[in-house]
Amino acid sequence: MTATVIAGTGSYVPERVLTNADLERMVDTSDEWITARTGIRERRIAADNQATSDLAIEAGRRAIEAAGITAQDVDLVLVATATPDMFFPATACLVQTALGATNAAAFDLSAACSGFIYGLNVADAYIRSGSYKNVLLIGAETMSRVVDWEDRTTCVLFGDGAGAVLLQAGEGDTGSGAPGLMRTDIHSDGAAWDYICVPGGGSRMPPSDALVDSRQQFLKMKGNETFKVAVRNMERAARTVLEDAGGIKAHDLALVVPHQANMRILNAVAERLELPAGKVYVNLDRYGNTSAASVPLAFDEAVRAGRLERGDLVLMLAFGSGLTWGAALLRWG
Ligand code: COA
Repeated sequence: MTATVIAGTGSYVPERVLTNADLERMVDTSDEWITARTGIRERRIAADNQATSDLAIEAGRRAIEAAGITAQDVDLVLVATATPDMFFPATACLVQTALGATNAAAFDLSAACSGFIYGLNVADAYIRSGSYKNVLLIGAETMSRVVDWEDRTTCVLFGDGAGAVLLQAGEGDTGSGAPGLMRTDIHSDGAAWDYICVPGGGSRMPPSDALVDSRQQFLKMKGNETFKVAVRNMERAARTVLEDAGGIKAHDLALVVPHQANMRILNAVAERLELPAGKVYVNLDRYGNTSAASVPLAFDEAVRAGRLERGDLVLMLAFGSGLTWGAALLRWG
């Protein structure tokens, strides 16, 4: 039986740190408000000469190295991003050539903050069907380029970064203890597309349209509405994968790696799922919401910090624009 195994992880964040105190000088906000309402204390901002692919390349390089393979062994590069370098070519192609992954196909996946979980679902299907053997899946974003730095309700939330995993075909039955992805569950609800969106800059409101307000090219969000559905849908997706994997209980999980959107959202999800304290991995205090990069960045940190042992069960959760949401359950090893 073929199973999709995580053979290596990597991540990268830009050097520049933007603290809540820095934001106090930019918009009418306070460290106290941001910390209390979100849990975020600082975030990273890409240098002027860094685009999303630059962050993705570093994270991808580290994942390949951790897996102990070469870039030529990679046969698919998949980049989940909502902030690609350009409309086209795909950011994945820029990553593919920079890494020297000369034998790989490459494409981007657009599912906003759920992009990494969607990517796991896609890569898993490819690997288990025998189509590809070494898939480099990267979540990478430069949210700072689409955030409205004059809108205090959104600019305090987001940051830049990248995380990656190298997925490989492994042997064994995950249900009987073999390592690998056990279940993924992904969903969408496009009726709520305007909860989080960048309305301008695409074909509906092209930048060439002189009548379009240039601020339409910045991120807009209905924060309160988003909060409620985020909690509800992540809980639902979590219950689905746990159930589908044979009725795994929350206390069986070694680690939960949720999308790092807001501490209050994470607390609400943890409470509803009755997750034991300390099992929810949190790094949003240092990076804010890095969209598709958020889950793999947190996962790489957890792996490198030695938080996981062979056989441990890990639950990943995400939610984002689309709307999209999903969960992935895996056995580490
Ligand atoms: N600094 C200070 N005050 C702020 C502020 C900021 N950065 N942003 C908003 N406020 C003010 C509002 O203007 C409002 O003032 P008012 O009462 O005078 O009108 C007040 O704070 C409360 O605003 P509200 O929107 O009700 O706050 P909230 O507790 O719901 O928190 C969010 C706002 C955005 C943090 C919260 O709704 C949230 O996290 N939503 C989910 C967002 C998210 O995670 N999106 C990405 C999903 S992938």
